[in-house]
Formats: sequence, C-alpha cells, structure tokens
Amino acid sequence: MAITTEPRPVDAQAPVAPPPTVLPMTHTARPWADGSTALLIDHATKRFKPGRSKKCVTAVDAVTLTVERGEVYGILGANGGGKSTLIRLVSTLLTLDSGRIEVFGHDVAKDELAVKQLINRVSVDAAFFKKLSPYENLVYAARLYGLPAGDARREAERILARLGIARSRLGSPLEQMSRGMQQKVAIARAILTSPTLLLLDEPTTGLDPRSKLEVQAFIEEITAMHDATILLTTHDLAEADRLCDRLAILNDGRLVVEGTPDELKHKVAAEHDLPATLESVFMTWTGRTLDDDLEIQEND
Ligand SMILES: Nc1ncnc2c1ncn2[C@@H]1O[C@H](COP(=O)(O)OP(=O)(O)OP(=O)(O)O)[C@@H](O)[C@H]1O
Ligand SMILES: [Mg+2]
Repeated sequence: MAITTEPRPVDAQAPVAPPPTVLPMTHTARPWADGSTALLIDHATKRFKPGRSKKCVTAVDAVTLTVERGEVYGILGANGGGKSTLIRLVSTLLTLDSGRIEVFGHDVAKDELAVKQLINRVSVDAAFFKKLSPYENLVYAARLYGLPAGDARREAERILARLGIARSRLGSPLEQMSRGMQQKVAIARAILTSPTLLLLDEPTTGLDPRSKLEVQAFIEEITAMHDATILLTTHDLAEADRLCDRLAILNDGRLVVEGTPDELKHKVAAEHDLPATLESVFMTWTGRTLDDDLEIQEND
C-alpha cells in the first residue's frame, strides 16, 4: 500500500487561473483532488426502535450526498439530527435499512473489509485504546490497515515525531496525554494510508480553546499534505467555516440544505433577508438557535 505523506510538488509553470466568478472550492490546490467520488451516499435510511411501546425514529432519512476526493465536507445540525448515525453508517458500525453507501467505490454492505481499510473514524472522546501508548496505537492501526510490521513501526515513529511528542512520552498510555493530543494521535492514524476517508464526529467538542485551534490546524495540515477526504460533524460554526469546503445541514434525519459556506451565507441573506452568517444559516434550516442546542446538551 502506498504511503504518501510528503507534500506533492506544485507545478510552478501552471497557468494562473483568472479570478473565479463562482465561489471557489478551497481544495482545488490539492493535487489528488481529481474530481473522483470518495464517498457516495444514496438515499441512505436508518431507523431505530428505541423501546417496545415507542414508535420508530428515522435517524437518517433518505440522505443523498457525494464527497469528492480531497474535499472536506461538514455536517451541521441540531442535537439528534442524525449526524453521528450517518457517520456510523459510513464506518460500517451500523447497517443501512435502505439506500446505498460507497467509499472509494466499495459498497459498505458488500465490501466491508475494503471499506474499513480506507476509513478512520474519530469520535468526540477518542475513546480508542486509551490504555495503549501513542506508538502502540499507531502500530496497531497500521497493522489493521495491512502494512507490514517493519513499515508500521517506521510510519508510527515518523508520524509521532511530526506530532512533536517527546520520545520519553511515546510509551505512556494515551489517557495520560492532553485531550487535544489524544485527538491528534487518533486523527494521525488517517495518514498511515492513502487514499483515506477520515470520519470526524465532533473532533474538537469539549477541548479548551487552544487545543481546539491546534486540532483544527492539524486537520488543515492533513488536508494540505495528504490524500485525505474528510467528513466532519461539528456544532462549532466557526470551525465549519474554517475547515469545510462544503456543508450540509441534517435536520430530523433529512438533508435540508447543502453548499459551500459562502454559498449558504449568500443564500440565507438573499432568500431570508438575514445577516450573511452561518448562525443565520443554522437557525433558518434547523429552526433553532445554537443556544437552544447547547441548552439541550447541558440538560442531557
Ligand atoms: N442506537 C440507537 N438506538 C435508538 N435510537 C438512536 C440510536 N442512535 C441514535 N438514535 C436516535 O437517532 C436520532 C439521531 O441521533 P444522532 O446521534 O445520529 O444525532 P446527532 O445529530 O449526532 O446528535 P448530536 O448533535 O447530539 O450528536 C436521535 O433521535 C437519537 O435518539
Ligand atoms: Mg452526534
């Protein structure tokens, strides 16, 4: 399996494009972004039956979207909107009731093993193997992705050096490191393989402001340096604006609007006469304010 983590050479002779009239996709500078489809979600539907007497909840309701290779695609939505369920469906942790999901052309239902080798899911608390050290985590992940043992060790050392973890800390359990560093180690598993689909479910929720910025910068670094495609959920609209090429809002399991951050801001201003901000976008298409959402989380 090819391991490509070095920056690709940029063609200095490439003609300079005229200023675009349409809003640009920020990932066009990524050389591996060839317009191919990294993730295809086609009328994906998932229902849960919470209790015996209660009726079914349609957590993900006929969601259709595609994510191009190299793109960072964000999913916003109020609590319970279906974001994590959609991520779990892509990661093969849950099975679809109907619809189709393909990761780099591999069907999640028919080709689960191939899909698992192409994805890396990081959830809010990076709960994976906290008893293992950063080094063990990366070597283990590399072996799962099919790298030979020697390559796995070399890659783990190289990535950990890049993360700036002191040699003396490489053998300590992950749980003894800061939450920000834990998230970075979890995300770094994605640069073991190429191409890769990184599924980030609220990767910065609960981090202090400085760690949050560090993790965001690391995500940006990965998208600039590595053939990674990212599907990301967040409640932080500034983070969505900073990191995402395109955004969708999931409301009650349905995809209600999709576009680049700038397209959505212009749309809400033009169609609803509201300030051109992602806050207005969120309010308009979820019917809630962010404060409503935070109150629900606090009362959970
Ligand atoms: N395992 C489950 N069993 C039953 N219901 C579930 C299960 N997982 C999710 N749900 C329900 O599906 C709906 C979508 O939940 P999901 O966790 O996907 O939302 P979310 O958008 O990730 O929310 P949050 O912003 O709070 O993380 C909710 O109504 C939730 O209660
Ligand atoms: Mg969630």
